[in-house]
Amino acid sequence: MSLLLGIDVGTGGTRALVVDERGGIVASATAEHAPFASPQTGWAEQDPHDWWRATREAVHAVLTQPGVSADAIAAIGLSGQMHGSTLLDASDQVVRPALLWCDQRTHRQCQQITETIGAARLIQLTFNPALTGFTAPKLLWVREHEPDTWQNVRSVLLPKDYVRFRLTGHKATDVADASGTLLFDVGAREWSDTMLRELELKPSLMPEAFESPMVTGSVSPAGAEATGLTVGTPVVAGGGDQAAGAVGMGIVRAGAVSATIGTSGVVFAATDRPVLEPGGRIHTFCHAVPGRWHVMGVTLGAGLSLRWFRDQFGAGQSDVAAGLPPRDPYDLMTEAAATAPVGSDGVLWAPYLMGERTPHLDPHARAALVGLSGSHTRAHVVRAVLEGVAFSLKDSFSIFEAMQVPVSHVRLGGGGARSDLWRRIQADTYGYPVEIVAAEEGAAYGAALLAGVGAGVWRTVDEACDAVVRVVTRIEPNATNRATMARQYERFKALYPALRGLDNREGAMTRRRQLT
Ligand code: XUL
Repeated sequence: MSLLLGIDVGTGGTRALVVDERGGIVASATAEHAPFASPQTGWAEQDPHDWWRATREAVHAVLTQPGVSADAIAAIGLSGQMHGSTLLDASDQVVRPALLWCDQRTHRQCQQITETIGAARLIQLTFNPALTGFTAPKLLWVREHEPDTWQNVRSVLLPKDYVRFRLTGHKATDVADASGTLLFDVGAREWSDTMLRELELKPSLMPEAFESPMVTGSVSPAGAEATGLTVGTPVVAGGGDQAAGAVGMGIVRAGAVSATIGTSGVVFAATDRPVLEPGGRIHTFCHAVPGRWHVMGVTLGAGLSLRWFRDQFGAGQSDVAAGLPPRDPYDLMTEAAATAPVGSDGVLWAPYLMGERTPHLDPHARAALVGLSGSHTRAHVVRAVLEGVAFSLKDSFSIFEAMQVPVSHVRLGGGGARSDLWRRIQADTYGYPVEIVAAEEGAAYGAALLAGVGAGVWRTVDEACDAVVRVVTRIEPNATNRATMARQYERFKALYPALRGLDNREGAMTRRRQLT
């Protein structure tokens, strides 16, 4: 039986996943990345060479697992963190670390783009407003702040497309990932000549954009030597991690919605036309399914909130003190959180550790823990963090409702799908039944399915999803919990406007200091 390889170049690491023609998982391996560098507050950078190092390690690791041989791999699909700027010179060398999706330094460039193009026209041309995470403002930042570096830049690649380049020697991208650059006409599914021209960016900087299941090239001799893969293995375009992850969960037809909590948290709805939110509070991007689009709301500090809490305040000290063997710190935290009441006895977490996209579009937003009293415990605080992330994702559902985006069912992905407590919190907060799929394997799984379509295993992405995606658990909202969470959500919504007053004062002071 032929095998399919999905590679997901994430933020924390790169994952390689081998899937068979029935969608069964044959092997998987993850190689971690070095943590992203943050040379200044709000900056986030990674070295693209590290993605390639991790890809080599993860691919080598799956190729040595039982039942896998490089020759049996019929096709490879790529997915990855979106929006990052890999800048290459005329000899295709990386000229500086990539600015990542969560980098917030480009506030001024976003203003400049909005002024140059016009706010309404920008949404007409690209279907999205200028947001700090997107690629175009990053290019303008490098051009303005590092002109010597910029003058050497000849190509711009998204993170997974740098890995594609090293694997195949071809520069290419897919329409879903290209949608997050702000240089793409999402309606027409092609680069926007107007955006490129008016931002004075040469069209030759950007790679050719393909529909996600299309073959963009094949493994080169150098790629094969580096990874152990076979020369000539086809590589399909794949998709940005959100679109590929949605394919992996069967979120392909209008009405299907997912809520995925990774480092960021995303509520994603498939649509059969490019639906616009006039305020640009949610993104409208091409889907990895030809002829379809999707809308999505993004909370930047979702899984990041829990990891931040674990890293800063530790977990399981009581176990260590009791001489018990070490256990997964996330299990310890969620076990503690499950002992706190629904609604965390009034404690609220606003998860804006990295600023926020949906719905506030505010890189200066900051996180807060609110409502503490002396009787609250660690359990209340952890539960409040889990609930706060769910409230923040509910903001996207509220916008979908206002836009009349249909929601027939919600599937959960990422860390939020693996914790029993977080699943329950999400069902009660969103007010929809939530479903868990059998192969909750994230974007690498979707990338493998796209590879299968490219290799002819399935004729279409719909056919691939119908053949392999299976729901194993469904959780109905609990009416009593739902009422409590609805009350807490009303309080949560009051947090951001209150915090903005504080942030603006602090932000204004910092900005003044920077100017003097
Ligand atoms: C999507 C987004 C993140 C990254 C990181 O717009 O910024 O989900 O793709 O995974």
